[in-house]
Amino acid sequence: MASPVLVTGGTGRLGRLVVARLQDAGCDVRVLARHDRGAPRHVSFFTADLRTGEGIDPAVSAVAAIIHCATSTRGDAEATRNLVTAAARAGSPHVVYVSIVGIDHIASWGYPKAKLEAERIVTSSGLPWTILRVTQRETAGPGDPAHKDGLAPRPPANDGRRLAPRPPSPHHPYRKRP
Ligand SMILES: NC(=O)c1ccc[n+]([C@@H]2O[C@H](COP(=O)([O-])OP(=O)(O)OC[C@H]3O[C@@H](n4cnc5c(N)ncnc54)[C@H](OP(=O)(O)O)[C@@H]3O)[C@@H](O)[C@H]2O)c1
Repeated sequence: MASPVLVTGGTGRLGRLVVARLQDAGCDVRVLARHDRGAPRHVSFFTADLRTGEGIDPAVSAVAAIIHCATSTRGDAEATRNLVTAAARAGSPHVVYVSIVGIDHIASWGYPKAKLEAERIVTSSGLPWTILRVTQRETAGPGDPAHKDGLAPRPPANDGRRLAPRPPSPHHPYRKRP
């Protein structure tokens, strides 16, 4: 069998979808997260904390690629540094980092700033890498009525129909003068 692919944060909103696509493609999938809360079926689960570095080494051992979806409100740069350091010790896996579209325009504060720094850590790691700057996506998660194995995308709120344009507010500060 081909070398496994590790999905960090594979129990999260995006990570679950990534795991499902990899499984559909016949990949041997590993998931890394701090808690095994309903991890997808038929994956090898590794309990690890990317921020402390605890438990990362066995998860990255002999993997062909790492799709880095793990995130939290704080410490993403530090977590990413711990991940790529462990990955480089283990070999030369391709690291795919999931970032946010337009991140370089909004990165002056907290979370986006940490993500931009995480991008820089990945690109300067010496490992082969890909940065994906993706748009916001609503996905079903545990506890959501639309959630089925964590993989069911939520239907559009308006049933797919276009919303009617709203008339401009007379109080809008930027409305055109008559
Ligand atoms: N969702 C979107 O629409 C969207 C859009 C653009 C970009 N992105 C990016 O895509 C990535 C995934 O987002 P998401 O919405 O799927 O996040 P999420 O649902 O909050 O999932 C976060 C995942 O990371 C794990 N995690 C958090 N801290 C960790 C740590 N210290 N060590 C190991 N695992 C940890 C969590 O599991 P535990 O808590 O059990 O550890 C969970 O599996 C993020 O980088 C985000 O910026 C998402």
